[in-house]
Amino acid sequence: MMRMSVTVLVLLILSTLWGLTGCGSKENADLPANDQQAAYTADQQLYEDAAKKLVGTFMRDLQGELMSAMKDGGPENAIRVCNTAAPEIAAAHSAQGWTIKRVSERFRNPDNRADTTELAVLARFADTTGAPEIVANWTEIDSLRTFHFYKPIRVGQLCLNCHGGVQTLVPGVYQKLKKYYPADRAVGYKAGDLRGMFVVEAPWPDGVEYARQLLNPDTTTTTDTIAQ
Ligand code: HEC
Repeated sequence: MMRMSVTVLVLLILSTLWGLTGCGSKENADLPANDQQAAYTADQQLYEDAAKKLVGTFMRDLQGELMSAMKDGGPENAIRVCNTAAPEIAAAHSAQGWTIKRVSERFRNPDNRADTTELAVLARFADTTGAPEIVANWTEIDSLRTFHFYKPIRVGQLCLNCHGGVQTLVPGVYQKLKKYYPADRAVGYKAGDLRGMFVVEAPWPDGVEYARQLLNPDTTTTTDTIAQ
Protein backbone atom coordinates (compact mmCIF):
# COMPACT_ATOMS: atom_id res chain seq x y z
CA MET A 1 0.00 0.00 0.00
CA MET A 2 2.75 2.36 1.09
CA ARG A 3 4.89 1.39 -1.89
CA MET A 4 1.92 2.00 -4.16
CA SER A 5 1.34 5.58 -3.01
CA VAL A 6 5.04 6.36 -3.30
CA THR A 7 4.94 5.19 -6.91
CA VAL A 8 1.89 7.33 -7.54
CA LEU A 9 3.64 10.29 -5.95
CA VAL A 10 6.75 9.82 -8.06
CA LEU A 11 4.62 9.57 -11.18
CA LEU A 12 2.78 12.70 -10.20
CA ILE A 13 5.99 14.65 -9.67
CA LEU A 14 7.36 13.38 -12.97
CA SER A 15 4.28 14.34 -14.89
CA THR A 16 4.27 17.79 -13.29
CA LEU A 17 7.89 18.32 -14.25
CA TRP A 18 7.09 17.08 -17.74
CA GLY A 19 4.30 19.64 -17.94
CA LEU A 20 6.51 22.44 -16.67
CA THR A 21 9.15 21.88 -19.30
CA GLY A 22 6.48 22.39 -21.91
CA CYS A 23 6.76 18.88 -23.29
CA GLY A 24 3.29 18.01 -22.10
CA SER A 25 1.73 21.19 -23.37
CA LYS A 26 -0.62 19.39 -25.75
CA GLU A 27 -2.51 17.92 -22.83
CA ASN A 28 -2.56 21.18 -20.91
CA ALA A 29 -5.71 23.15 -21.64
CA ASP A 30 -4.20 26.26 -20.07
CA LEU A 31 -1.48 26.51 -22.65
CA PRO A 32 -2.27 27.72 -26.15
CA ALA A 33 -2.58 25.37 -29.10
CA ASN A 34 0.51 24.72 -31.14
CA ASP A 35 -0.32 27.15 -33.91
CA GLN A 36 -1.00 29.89 -31.41
CA GLN A 37 2.33 29.16 -29.79
CA ALA A 38 4.02 29.41 -33.17
CA ALA A 39 2.34 32.74 -33.85
CA TYR A 40 3.43 34.04 -30.48
CA THR A 41 7.01 32.99 -31.09
CA ALA A 42 6.99 34.64 -34.49
CA ASP A 43 5.46 37.85 -33.13
CA GLN A 44 8.12 38.34 -30.47
CA GLN A 45 10.51 39.86 -33.01
CA LEU A 46 7.69 41.94 -34.48
CA TYR A 47 6.99 43.42 -31.05
CA GLU A 48 10.63 44.22 -30.40
CA ASP A 49 11.02 45.93 -33.77
CA ALA A 50 7.78 47.86 -33.25
CA ALA A 51 8.85 48.99 -29.78
CA LYS A 52 12.16 50.28 -31.14
CA LYS A 53 10.28 52.19 -33.79
CA LEU A 54 7.84 53.60 -31.25
CA VAL A 55 10.61 54.85 -28.98
CA GLY A 56 12.36 56.44 -31.97
CA THR A 57 9.23 58.26 -33.08
CA PHE A 58 8.39 59.40 -29.57
CA MET A 59 11.92 60.70 -29.04
CA ARG A 60 11.94 62.50 -32.38
CA ASP A 61 8.58 64.18 -31.74
CA LEU A 62 9.51 65.24 -28.22
CA GLN A 63 12.92 66.58 -29.14
CA GLY A 64 11.39 68.38 -32.11
CA GLU A 65 8.92 70.16 -29.84
CA LEU A 66 11.63 70.88 -27.31
CA MET A 67 14.04 72.36 -29.85
CA SER A 68 11.47 74.62 -31.46
CA ALA A 69 10.21 75.86 -28.08
CA MET A 70 13.80 76.56 -27.01
CA LYS A 71 14.37 78.49 -30.21
CA ASP A 72 11.19 80.50 -29.67
CA GLY A 73 11.81 81.50 -26.09
CA GLY A 74 14.69 79.68 -24.47
CA PRO A 75 14.50 76.97 -21.83
CA GLU A 76 12.07 78.95 -19.72
CA ASN A 77 9.55 78.75 -22.52
CA ALA A 78 10.37 75.13 -23.27
CA ILE A 79 9.46 73.93 -19.79
CA ARG A 80 5.84 73.88 -20.83
CA VAL A 81 6.72 71.48 -23.67
CA CYS A 82 8.03 68.93 -21.23
CA ASN A 83 5.24 69.69 -18.82
CA THR A 84 2.31 69.24 -21.18
CA ALA A 85 3.60 67.96 -24.51
CA ALA A 86 5.50 64.94 -23.17
CA PRO A 87 2.43 63.21 -21.68
CA GLU A 88 0.37 64.28 -24.71
CA ILE A 89 2.83 62.86 -27.20
CA ALA A 90 3.06 59.68 -25.13
CA ALA A 91 -0.71 59.32 -25.17
CA ALA A 92 -0.86 59.99 -28.90
CA HIS A 93 1.49 57.09 -29.57
CA SER A 94 -0.42 54.69 -27.34
CA ALA A 95 -2.98 52.47 -29.06
CA GLN A 96 -4.39 48.93 -28.91
CA GLY A 97 -2.94 48.41 -25.49
CA TRP A 98 0.50 49.72 -26.46
CA THR A 99 1.78 52.31 -24.01
CA ILE A 100 4.95 54.37 -23.86
CA LYS A 101 6.25 56.41 -20.96
CA ARG A 102 9.44 57.76 -19.44
CA VAL A 103 10.43 56.85 -15.92
CA SER A 104 13.31 57.78 -13.67
CA GLU A 105 14.77 57.05 -10.28
CA ARG A 106 15.41 60.77 -9.74
CA PHE A 107 12.22 62.08 -11.26
CA ARG A 108 10.89 65.56 -11.74
CA ASN A 109 7.25 64.62 -12.06
CA PRO A 110 6.15 62.00 -9.48
CA ASP A 111 4.01 60.43 -12.25
CA ASN A 112 7.31 59.33 -13.79
CA ARG A 113 8.54 57.49 -10.73
CA ALA A 114 10.07 54.10 -11.60
CA ASP A 115 8.45 51.13 -9.83
CA THR A 116 10.38 48.25 -8.30
CA THR A 117 10.65 46.26 -11.53
CA GLU A 118 11.71 49.35 -13.44
CA LEU A 119 14.31 50.27 -10.84
CA ALA A 120 15.91 46.88 -11.36
CA VAL A 121 16.15 47.52 -15.11
CA LEU A 122 17.52 51.03 -14.49
CA ALA A 123 20.24 49.47 -12.33
CA ARG A 124 21.28 47.35 -15.30
CA PHE A 125 21.48 50.41 -17.52
CA ALA A 126 23.48 52.23 -14.85
CA ASP A 127 26.14 49.52 -14.89
CA THR A 128 29.24 51.30 -16.18
CA THR A 129 31.06 48.13 -17.19
CA GLY A 130 28.50 46.37 -19.36
CA ALA A 131 25.12 48.03 -19.65
CA PRO A 132 22.80 46.49 -22.28
CA GLU A 133 21.53 48.76 -25.06
CA ILE A 134 17.98 47.66 -24.51
CA VAL A 135 16.12 45.22 -22.29
CA ALA A 136 13.11 43.29 -23.55
CA ASN A 137 11.10 40.59 -21.87
CA TRP A 138 7.68 38.95 -21.64
CA THR A 139 5.46 38.27 -18.69
CA GLU A 140 2.49 35.97 -18.50
CA ILE A 141 -0.12 36.55 -15.83
CA ASP A 142 -3.42 34.64 -15.93
CA SER A 143 -2.56 33.62 -19.51
CA LEU A 144 -2.27 37.28 -20.45
CA ARG A 145 1.00 37.86 -22.27
CA THR A 146 2.61 41.27 -22.07
CA PHE A 147 5.71 42.57 -23.79
CA HIS A 148 8.02 44.91 -21.89
CA PHE A 149 10.68 47.00 -23.59
CA TYR A 150 13.15 49.37 -21.98
CA LYS A 151 15.63 51.81 -23.47
CA PRO A 152 17.93 54.08 -21.47
CA ILE A 153 17.78 57.88 -21.71
CA ARG A 154 21.09 59.62 -21.23
CA VAL A 155 21.78 63.27 -20.58
CA GLY A 156 22.97 65.40 -23.50
CA GLN A 157 24.21 68.98 -23.54
CA LEU A 158 20.77 70.42 -24.32
CA CYS A 159 19.24 68.67 -21.33
CA LEU A 160 21.53 70.48 -18.89
CA ASN A 161 19.46 73.65 -19.39
CA CYS A 162 16.81 72.07 -17.20
CA HIS A 163 18.45 69.03 -15.59
CA GLY A 164 21.94 70.38 -14.85
CA GLY A 165 23.36 71.62 -11.57
CA VAL A 166 21.06 74.04 -9.72
CA GLN A 167 23.78 76.72 -9.69
CA THR A 168 24.14 76.53 -13.46
CA LEU A 169 20.43 76.88 -14.26
CA VAL A 170 19.20 80.21 -15.60
CA PRO A 171 17.37 81.89 -12.66
CA GLY A 172 14.09 82.09 -14.59
CA VAL A 173 14.26 78.38 -15.35
CA TYR A 174 15.04 77.50 -11.78
CA GLN A 175 12.10 79.52 -10.47
CA LYS A 176 9.68 78.06 -12.95
CA LEU A 177 10.79 74.50 -12.22
CA LYS A 178 10.40 75.10 -8.49
CA LYS A 179 6.92 76.44 -9.08
CA TYR A 180 5.69 73.48 -11.15
CA TYR A 181 7.74 70.80 -9.39
CA PRO A 182 8.34 71.76 -5.76
CA ALA A 183 9.81 68.32 -5.02
CA ASP A 184 11.96 68.21 -8.19
CA ARG A 185 14.70 65.59 -8.00
CA ALA A 186 15.78 65.79 -11.64
CA VAL A 187 18.57 68.36 -11.32
CA GLY A 188 22.30 67.95 -10.78
CA TYR A 189 22.88 65.70 -13.77
CA LYS A 190 26.02 65.78 -15.91
CA ALA A 191 26.31 65.02 -19.64
CA GLY A 192 26.38 61.28 -20.19
CA ASP A 193 24.52 60.44 -16.97
CA LEU A 194 21.66 57.98 -17.05
CA ARG A 195 18.58 60.16 -16.80
CA GLY A 196 15.92 57.47 -16.93
CA MET A 197 14.44 55.17 -19.56
CA PHE A 198 11.62 54.67 -22.00
CA VAL A 199 9.18 51.95 -21.07
CA VAL A 200 7.01 50.35 -23.74
CA GLU A 201 4.39 47.77 -22.87
CA ALA A 202 2.05 45.85 -25.15
CA PRO A 203 -0.38 42.97 -24.84
CA TRP A 204 -0.28 39.90 -27.09
CA PRO A 205 -2.14 39.17 -29.31
CA ASP A 206 -4.33 42.28 -28.96
CA GLY A 207 -1.51 44.63 -29.97
CA VAL A 208 -0.38 42.78 -33.10
CA GLU A 209 -2.15 45.05 -35.55
CA TYR A 210 -0.67 48.22 -34.07
CA ALA A 211 2.78 46.62 -34.11
CA ARG A 212 2.38 46.05 -37.86
CA GLN A 213 1.15 49.62 -38.34
CA LEU A 214 4.16 50.98 -36.50
CA LEU A 215 6.49 49.14 -38.83
CA ASN A 216 4.57 49.94 -42.02
CA PRO A 217 3.09 53.39 -41.49
CA ASP A 218 2.72 54.04 -45.25
CA THR A 219 0.48 51.11 -45.99
CA THR A 220 -1.87 51.58 -43.07
CA THR A 221 -3.80 54.31 -41.32
CA THR A 222 -1.50 55.02 -38.41
CA THR A 223 -2.73 58.58 -38.12
CA ASP A 224 -6.28 57.40 -37.57
CA THR A 225 -5.11 55.28 -34.70
CA ILE A 226 -3.04 58.10 -33.25
CA ALA A 227 -5.99 60.49 -33.46
CA GLN A 228 -8.13 58.29 -31.22
C1 HEC B 1 13.22 73.22 -21.07
C2 HEC B 1 13.51 72.37 -19.97
C3 HEC B 1 13.88 70.93 -20.21
C4 HEC B 1 14.84 70.46 -21.07
C5 HEC B 1 15.77 71.24 -21.97
C6 HEC B 1 14.83 69.01 -20.90
N1 HEC B 1 13.90 68.64 -19.98
FE1 HEC B 1 13.50 66.77 -19.32
N2 HEC B 1 11.99 67.45 -18.22
C7 HEC B 1 11.62 68.76 -18.10
C8 HEC B 1 10.38 68.83 -17.37
C9 HEC B 1 9.62 70.10 -17.04
C10 HEC B 1 10.02 67.51 -17.05
C11 HEC B 1 8.78 67.02 -16.33
C12 HEC B 1 7.74 66.57 -17.36
C13 HEC B 1 6.44 66.13 -16.80
O1 HEC B 1 5.84 66.87 -16.01
O2 HEC B 1 6.02 65.01 -17.15
C14 HEC B 1 11.05 66.67 -17.61
C15 HEC B 1 11.04 65.29 -17.50
C16 HEC B 1 11.97 64.47 -18.05
C17 HEC B 1 11.97 63.03 -17.94
C18 HEC B 1 10.90 62.17 -17.25
C19 HEC B 1 11.28 61.79 -15.86
C20 HEC B 1 11.06 62.87 -14.85
O3 HEC B 1 12.08 63.28 -14.27
O4 HEC B 1 9.92 63.32 -14.62
C21 HEC B 1 13.05 62.59 -18.61
C22 HEC B 1 13.49 61.15 -18.76
C23 HEC B 1 13.72 63.75 -19.15
N3 HEC B 1 13.05 64.88 -18.79
C24 HEC B 1 14.86 63.69 -19.92
C25 HEC B 1 15.37 64.78 -20.60
C26 HEC B 1 16.46 64.68 -21.57
C27 HEC B 1 17.18 63.40 -21.92
C28 HEC B 1 16.65 65.93 -22.05
C29 HEC B 1 17.62 66.36 -23.14
C30 HEC B 1 17.42 65.72 -24.43
C31 HEC B 1 15.71 66.81 -21.39
N4 HEC B 1 14.96 66.08 -20.52
C32 HEC B 1 15.65 68.16 -21.61
C33 HEC B 1 12.30 69.85 -18.59
C34 HEC B 1 13.29 69.79 -19.54
